[in-house]
Amino acid sequence: MKTFPTEFAELLTPKGRRILEGKDPEACGVLLRPGHRFVALSGVLDARKAVACRELLEKALRDTLTQMEDAIPPESIWGMTENYAELLPKTVRVRTALLESRRSRSWKAAEAVGLVAMMRSESFAAFASSVSGRALRRKWGIQALCYGPGDYTGPHNDHHPEDAEAFDGYVDMHLTFATPTVAHQWLVYAKGGHFSEMRSVNTVGGITVYRLPFWHYTTPLMAKPGAEEDARRWVLLGTFLDAPREYRRGTAIEPPPSVARPG
Ligand SMILES: [Fe+2]
Repeated sequence: MKTFPTEFAELLTPKGRRILEGKDPEACGVLLRPGHRFVALSGVLDARKAVACRELLEKALRDTLTQMEDAIPPESIWGMTENYAELLPKTVRVRTALLESRRSRSWKAAEAVGLVAMMRSESFAAFASSVSGRALRRKWGIQALCYGPGDYTGPHNDHHPEDAEAFDGYVDMHLTFATPTVAHQWLVYAKGGHFSEMRSVNTVGGITVYRLPFWHYTTPLMAKPGAEEDARRWVLLGTFLDAPREYRRGTAIEPPPSVARPG
């Protein structure tokens, strides 16, 4: 594999194709079920192709990344005037490839290797639509992240109350490609008001789908001893807004007919 396939569907296993076609009752529309805002899917991307994707990312994007960093503000401790009144804003440290601006080095590199086309392909959004069970807008956001040793995202909920199109919730889909020297990294999320749930994101070709907002965080990536140099987790990320309640035919990505939609 010298470039990414033009359609995301070409990476899928038979199980992945069943999900795309609405024929997997366990995964299709799973995020419509009450209390189900997160799902981690495995065995969906072909294992060999997933390794090839990772190698392409390592080769094409590694030198184009920009650091994204929001540290813990010291005032969050030293500005406190009341016991137990601490508030933590969203903290993060990760490297990112912004794929929205055509002028960026990352975009040019991603375009050259076919990544932009694949993440813009119909089947990429159709997969998110099938798992989330919702009709999604045709214009979606794409991004690539790279977690190195110690990179993490602190607790946050991704709520966007100021955006008319997102205040009611939206869908994120992440494809993960970890290198062999990653020891572990976890996605911790809240259910029933507590951070009680935890899934490993140290996968090659794992897919996680989110119905945001809800509270979650990503633990620091830990490398196997002595292998920090080569420990990275690549994340390909699609952000999808719900289609408007009423939309013209063809203007939205619709889940397969077999997947129930909210009335
Ligand atoms: Fe998030």
